[in-house]
Amino acid sequence: PPERTLVLVKPDGVRRGLSGEVLRRIEAKGYSLVAVELKQATTELLAAHYAEHEGKPFYAPLVEFMLSGPTLAVVAEGQGVIPGFRSLAGATDPTEAAPGTIRGDLGRDWGLKVQQNLVHGSDSPESAAREIGLWFPHL
Ligand code: CMP
Repeated sequence: PPERTLVLVKPDGVRRGLSGEVLRRIEAKGYSLVAVELKQATTELLAAHYAEHEGKPFYAPLVEFMLSGPTLAVVAEGQGVIPGFRSLAGATDPTEAAPGTIRGDLGRDWGLKVQQNLVHGSDSPESAAREIGLWFPHL
């Protein structure tokens, strides 16, 4: 089956009007868009999506931030898209992320309790399958 990943434009990215810029970079790289939906996350969805971070100090601020506005959920497809999108996104910390990447070009430290780092990308085939099932139950 074709390789797919889940990309999220987080509420900071949507608020700043960067949804189109993120989609543009995914498409310019040569990946295909399979599904795109603006969604308001729920506590239940985020508890499942971020289960691995439960108990960490940034978990509560992370969930609060992710509930603060709509998220653009995207399924992108293409050979190598899982590591390929993470490479487009850049390092988790936007201060460290290399110029040329989404976080390096468009993100910064806003001095908040959680990294508001614009985008999420699945980190493995197992995560991608699980996360796509959570955000797009019909896919
Ligand atoms: P993401 O990789 O999508 O999923 C976990 C999120 O938690 C991460 O993006 C950041 O938004 C945030 N995060 C990860 N590590 C930290 C940290 N050390 N401090 C604050 N926020 C973090």
